[in-house]
Amino acid sequence: VIFETSSELAKYVASVVADLIRKKNEAGVSTILGLPTGSTPLGVYRELIRLHNEEQLDFSNVITFNLDEYWPMDPDSIHSYHKFMHENFFDHVNVKPENIHIPRGDIAAEDVDSFCEEYEHSIEKVGGLDLQLLGIGRSGHIGFNEPGSARNSLTRLVNLDPVTRRDAASGFFGEDNVPHHAITMGVGSILAAKKIIIMALGEHKAPVVKRAAEDEVTDEVSASFLQTHTNSLFAVDSAAAAEL
Ligand code: GLP
Repeated sequence: VIFETSSELAKYVASVVADLIRKKNEAGVSTILGLPTGSTPLGVYRELIRLHNEEQLDFSNVITFNLDEYWPMDPDSIHSYHKFMHENFFDHVNVKPENIHIPRGDIAAEDVDSFCEEYEHSIEKVGGLDLQLLGIGRSGHIGFNEPGSARNSLTRLVNLDPVTRRDAASGFFGEDNVPHHAITMGVGSILAAKKIIIMALGEHKAPVVKRAAEDEVTDEVSASFLQTHTNSLFAVDSAAAAEL
C-alpha cells in the first residue's frame, strides 16, 4: 500500500494495531505485538499514544517483544533501544512493565545463547506474535538480520553490516562508536508472526523497497522473505515507492 504522506501511513498502521488490541480486549485475551525501533515507526507510536490518551485505547493486556538491541549495550545508555522504546512509547501508555520484552544488551558473552533461546521460548509461551511491525534497513535487513541471514534463523547474536553501522553513525557521534554486534530476533522468528506490516519512508529507501517487494526472494535481502508470508503488508510513502 502506498500512502501520500508518512503521517497517513502512521495513522493507518496505528489503526490496524488499535483494532487488533480492541478486538482482543473484548475477547478477554492478550495481544502479542512484535515491535521495531528506528525513525520509521515513530509516527505509529505517536498515534498509538494519542489513541491511548484521547480514545482510551487500553494496553493493559498487551504483551510486547522488541526485535533487537545492540550488544554490548547498557540498557540505560542513550544509545540503547531499551531507552528508545521507553522514551518514545512505553512511558506514555499503560503497557505493564512485566509485559515488555527487549533483548538484553548487557548480557555476558557466555550467557547470550541461553538468553536468546529463552527469548524465543517466551514468545512461544504466550502463543506467538499476533502482529509484527517492521522497518527496513538499507542493507535489506529486518530487525538486524543482515544479508546472509537464513530464512529459518532465530534470535541470536549477529555482526552488523558496514552499511548499517554507517547509517547508525550520526546517533552514536561517529561510526567508530557504533557497536559491531546486536542481538536480533531471526527471520524465522519474524515469519512465525500471524500478521506482518513492514514500513518504509523516504527516497533513500526506494531501492531496497523495490528489491524486497518486487525482486527475487533471496537471503541477500532479508526483507524479501516476507514475500513468502501469507499475511504480510508493505506500507510505504510515495518517496519510498519511487522505484516500484
Ligand atoms: C535499525 C533497526 C531496524 C530498522 C532500521 C531502519 O537498523 N535495527 O529494525 O528497521 O534501523 O531504521 P530507520 O527506520 O531509522 O530508517
